Amino acid sequence: MTGTPTPPAREEDLARVRAAVWSLLDAATRGRDHPWRLAVLATTGPDGPDARTVVLRECDTAARVLTVYTDLRSPKVAQLRADPRATVVCWAPGPGWQVRLSVRAEVIDQGLDVSSRWARLRLTRAAQDYLSPLPPGQRREAPGHALAQAQAADAPTPHAHFGLVRLHVQAIDWLELHPAGHRRARLSETDAVWLAP
Ligand SMILES: Cc1cc2nc3c(=O)[nH]c(=O)nc-3n(C[C@H](O)[C@H](O)[C@H](O)COP(=O)(O)O)c2cc1C
Repeated sequence: MTGTPTPPAREEDLARVRAAVWSLLDAATRGRDHPWRLAVLATTGPDGPDARTVVLRECDTAARVLTVYTDLRSPKVAQLRADPRATVVCWAPGPGWQVRLSVRAEVIDQGLDVSSRWARLRLTRAAQDYLSPLPPGQRREAPGHALAQAQAADAPTPHAHFGLVRLHVQAIDWLELHPAGHRRARLSETDAVWLAP
């Protein structure tokens, strides 16, 4: 699916809302222009709350797991290892839907799941994201500066720092903005309840 999703009908049944949310999450991992493809992942860092944009790459609806690719040296990985509780926020103007997903993050840094994806990725331009000699967030000279280039040239042969973050969805806070009245619900593994928006 590409582009803005067709606004779903006004779902009256929370089971159908849940199914529609997972259908959109799945579509987001397949469509480059899908509004939920770029999500905000919020974590707790050593100095307090932290958040950043990530790409939703894979969705396992049956297992309720989303997968994000990352540079294993990025600070979020250490944050998630220290405290795996995180929130993913997505907004789609088409249906007027925001979801806030309460997740538990699992960092996968080796094994077949990593190597099989890296084998595909390493042949693409996106591979550069995981081959930088400097870890994300490390202080450096201005990009293009001679010293920065020298540092890069002196760096040992780059190897991939590619890894996966599996986001196990525990609960979904769904908010629908609609001219006929906003609606909100909390969908956990075992329960689904309407909330005041
Ligand atoms: C549009 C966009 C998509 C991004 N996608 C990812 C991603 O899928 N995975 C990732 O680790 N970082 C991604 N980033 C970079 C992060 O937002 C962030 O800058 C970087 O990972 C360092 O974050 P951290 O210091 O919180 O670890 C993306 C940034 C933008 C602007």
